[in-house]
Amino acid sequence: MSHTDTHLTVVTHPLVQHKLTLMRKSDASTASFRRLLREISLLLAYEVTRDLPVTMTTIDTPMQPMQAPVIEGKKLALISILRAGNGLLDGILELVPSARVGFVGLYRDPETLKPVEYYFKVPGGLDERLTIAVDPMLATGNSSVAAIDMLKKNGAKDIIFLCLLAAPEGVARMKEAHPDVPIVTAALDERLDDHGYIVPGLGDAGDRIFGTK
Ligand code: URA
Repeated sequence: MSHTDTHLTVVTHPLVQHKLTLMRKSDASTASFRRLLREISLLLAYEVTRDLPVTMTTIDTPMQPMQAPVIEGKKLALISILRAGNGLLDGILELVPSARVGFVGLYRDPETLKPVEYYFKVPGGLDERLTIAVDPMLATGNSSVAAIDMLKKNGAKDIIFLCLLAAPEGVARMKEAHPDVPIVTAALDERLDDHGYIVPGLGDAGDRIFGTK
């Protein structure tokens, strides 16, 4: 279940919304935050892969040969925007275990809120793969836009951005910079605060996933 315009899909499935509410609570433990994120990422992965093309292949069941569908083309590329992206990545990989995986390391300068690159390693053949970039929080959009810039420079043409929470400011920034990259999210929150945090949000996703606060 989802609400969609051409650029933004909000996954309104009750399981996603319920789990997200539990994650937002400030007293959720690191263990339950992680478990809920893994569970939500499975549900979001289902949504984000719904238009993958399939082709027919001949198989033998124990009863008889049949034509059956399989996913067509090269394996997906999942790109985790470090470090919080790894929290979404693990669940998706359970559902799509043969996906190729890349990492983009960007940190946000706390003064300027601008992204600074420190790591980039992605699979080859991005031009022939559906590339799903994952980062739980689409806040200012600065790091997402920079990550997508880097993926496009490396050949990616068919990109989806998957997050857990989005701020209207980040969605607008992405739409302006990368109108060809659809966004899939579990919720569109109210706004950003003065420090670039999403409100009501859930705090610092990386700290909550890794227990670093
Ligand atoms: N990154 C986070 O982890 N949380 C926010 O609210 C914004 C950016």
